[in-house]
Amino acid sequence: MKVLGLVASPRKLGNSEIIVREMMKVLPADWQKDLLRLNDLRIDRCKACYACLAAGRRCIIKDDLNFFLDQILAADKVILAAPVYFLGPQTTLKLINDRMISIQNDTAAYATGKQCVIVIPHTVNGWEGYARESSMHFARFLNLNVTGVLTVRATLPGDVTKCEKFADIRRLAASLIDGSTLDFTPADQICCPDCGSSLLQIFRRNAWRCAICDCTGSWKAGDNEFKLRRSDDAHRRFTPEGMAEHGRTLTQIKDEYIARREEVKTMQLPYQKAAAVWLEPAGD
Ligand SMILES: Cc1cc2nc3c(=O)[nH]c(=O)nc-3n(C[C@H](O)[C@H](O)[C@H](O)COP(=O)(O)O)c2cc1C
Repeated sequence: MKVLGLVASPRKLGNSEIIVREMMKVLPADWQKDLLRLNDLRIDRCKACYACLAAGRRCIIKDDLNFFLDQILAADKVILAAPVYFLGPQTTLKLINDRMISIQNDTAAYATGKQCVIVIPHTVNGWEGYARESSMHFARFLNLNVTGVLTVRATLPGDVTKCEKFADIRRLAASLIDGSTLDFTPADQICCPDCGSSLLQIFRRNAWRCAICDCTGSWKAGDNEFKLRRSDDAHRRFTPEGMAEHGRTLTQIKDEYIARREEVKTMQLPYQKAAAVWLEPAGD
């Protein structure tokens, strides 16, 4: 068994790294345990060229993205520790996420349902923002099967060892051994019944939608009660079928661009020399 520990923090021996190393200690001695510090990778920004949009085609940017994807393909289980930065994920997660278009047309290679558990350290209560959801969908866009997400309070490097949920971190690691699912959402919090996200859009007329997985349904409010019902035919973005469907949509957009390329140029032309100037940093 090969487990890959992803550390999404620039800090060496920070809370994320300590979390992953602690979890590795729980795992059987004969498992192969690899660590990857995402901030050590050279990951450029997506250029929106769509060159990767064909099954088996990889991103053409020459950096460490494909090395990263190879590690995901080679792993049997994945641990992700990713701190909250300004209510969201640390930059590298977003940089890598934006480069995942190629995966949408390669569902067969990635859709292996590998187990993934996630821990999110942060400092201030109520400042978790959308970091939990962004880490979850980072893993789900990689077709990983997220079976447990834990948010923990930790500020200075190492503080996590003193946090009250430290035992839960070890429990989460143990769940990788028996393949079980652990739900750490507070009992009174209402989350998406499909993906566990707390980013629910609530509409008048009793409708709701999960902003992350696109699941929809109806809601009912009563005395001290708020209940969600999931539609039987709700769309499921993070399934191999949902991902493949999105891959086909992106391919259609690319084909449309090729077909309408001249028209696109015509629309752009009047703006090429619009009355404004680009600002540029002076440099040293
Ligand atoms: C740039 C920056 C932004 C941060 N933003 C938040 C935040 O929005 N909410 C929060 O609770 N903690 C925030 N933190 C605190 C970190 O999430 C916290 O210290 C965490 O334990 C860091 O994990 P690490 O040691 O693995 O890097 C921020 C830290 C930094 C450096």
